[in-house]
Amino acid sequence: MCGIVGYVGSQSALDVVMAGLKRLEYRGYDSAGVAVPADGGLATAKRAGKLVNLDKELSEHPLPAAATGIGHTRWATHGGPTDANAHPHLDNAGRVAVVHNGIIENFAPLRAELAERGHDLPSETDTEVVAHLLAEEFSGCADLAQAMRLVCRRLEGAFTLVAVHADAPDVVVGARRNSPLVVGVGEGEYFLASDVAAFIAHTRDAVELGQDQVVELSRDGVTVTGFDGTPADVRSYHVDWDASAAEKAGYASFMLKEIAEQPKAVADTLLGRVDGSGTLSLDEVRIPPGVLRETNKVVVIACGTAYHAGLIAKYAIEHWTRIPCEVELASEFRYRDPILDQQTLVVAISQSGETMDTLMALRHAREQGARVLAICNTNGSTIPRESDAVLYTHAGPEVAVASTKAFLTQLVACYLVALYLGQARGTKYGDEIRDVVRDLAGISGAVERVLGTMEPVRELARSLAHKDTVLFLGRHVGHPVALEGALKLKELAYMHAEGFAAGELKHGPIALIEEDLPVVVVAPSPRGRSVLHGKIVSNIQEIRARGARTVVIAEEGDEAVVPYADHLIRVPATPTLLQPLVATVPLQVFACELATARGNEVDQPRNLAKSVTVE
Ligand code: AGP
Repeated sequence: MCGIVGYVGSQSALDVVMAGLKRLEYRGYDSAGVAVPADGGLATAKRAGKLVNLDKELSEHPLPAAATGIGHTRWATHGGPTDANAHPHLDNAGRVAVVHNGIIENFAPLRAELAERGHDLPSETDTEVVAHLLAEEFSGCADLAQAMRLVCRRLEGAFTLVAVHADAPDVVVGARRNSPLVVGVGEGEYFLASDVAAFIAHTRDAVELGQDQVVELSRDGVTVTGFDGTPADVRSYHVDWDASAAEKAGYASFMLKEIAEQPKAVADTLLGRVDGSGTLSLDEVRIPPGVLRETNKVVVIACGTAYHAGLIAKYAIEHWTRIPCEVELASEFRYRDPILDQQTLVVAISQSGETMDTLMALRHAREQGARVLAICNTNGSTIPRESDAVLYTHAGPEVAVASTKAFLTQLVACYLVALYLGQARGTKYGDEIRDVVRDLAGISGAVERVLGTMEPVRELARSLAHKDTVLFLGRHVGHPVALEGALKLKELAYMHAEGFAAGELKHGPIALIEEDLPVVVVAPSPRGRSVLHGKIVSNIQEIRARGARTVVIAEEGDEAVVPYADHLIRVPATPTLLQPLVATVPLQVFACELATARGNEVDQPRNLAKSVTVE
């Protein structure tokens, strides 16, 4: 989950690369480094820690001016976050510099081979072997792209590699397998990056790279081939958001900005997807309605927050389509020998589109003959490219590691897929679909209203900052919301937090309840004399009788919970299945504020990265 930038053009390569790394720092911040060909050699600088450390190093020891360069910000896999393990890595002669995202799984035998041939590899990383192999191959062909192709054929695992060579000072070469790399095409200047955010300030014209491809940037343009050297067909596209979208825009953190952007993200994800008659038009879902009609099982695969969206999707899919729906942790899915066939529709949910666990699960599903529909927020990323169809969410770039607006738009997309399946199978018709889509359209305003009432939630969070445990309870679609609230608190406040199905309390977890223990309860709607509502009121009474401090999220007008809520958080009334869209927001705000009160860095929590591109 590292950030990589490469540049060839007429600007200061160092300035372009450093600015690009700043935009990618959310992908990993254990160390950072740069390399530029200059004065017949390579000039490099690298420092452990955040990019600011490298900035300081460069201001004290500037590198020579150069119009070509590469850079890297690291999330450590092999070898700790030290200066020596920071990228770029060089060969012994210091003529080749390479940066890498991913894992070279066969680096140990390659390292042993190189040592036998007299190479000295001082770092603990897997990446370093690539610099030495490139040096060897380059000495035989004097062509960095060809050297890269020859080296890539020997590598196993997932990798994005970008390299420069002192003897080819106007060229940057990259390669990718199972790891993100995208090309930016400017006016006489070209970019390579893990994510378009790195070069969007310069150009919004991008080229998507496919699996096992090598790309060469030179002043003459961009050349893409397979690892075997055959020219590759590539897809160009225009990025539909601008550089300002990737900025904090005055918010204290990207996370706060992205929480605030949720009403727009929800509205944008709905835009243009239903016509006046109430018929859904998901034209980008390139699965013929006839095939959808034959679907007899849906399996959702995802990780983390995206998995929680899948758990909620299950309720909607089964309710609106009457097709069984399983939800699987992507990292477990392919190892349990799942039952899949041509009638199975696998839905892969991923904000980044690069999560390796989800990608490998998707590949397994396709090998078993299942059709795969991706729900993704990143145009041109690997998961949609390897799926049969994609429904993009339009949340805009999500920079904060903790997923917020992407989650809400994943829910919207899941509801749309469920309705689309229902429409294709004839279990749902224009009138009901129109009603649900109208309710969905109203959610944007409902989320806005929730965001306007969050001050008591922030005060509560600050008052609980000293606590070391918070529990979360929910029933029905409120249960995945409870899991998501617990995950947010774990990943931001680094504290023990756990979500439970409220009905499970008496089967064990109630033993955890003790005096003044904060327990957040997501209450279902009381409307229609919901049986579930009555049960959750009993659950609240049970935990309160044992000393819990109850924080109840309940819809406006629900008076039954009032006597048992030490803290009451109101959300607008919504249809049952859509409640997660409003009930999740207070939990995001709660976790963000509590983590901030603890002095944590909410955009870049410790040990985490935005996109987990290793298994
Ligand atoms: C959620 O806050 C985390 N950032 C993490 O659980 C994330 O949802 C998960 O890694 C999946 O990422 P993806 O949506 O990019 O595949």
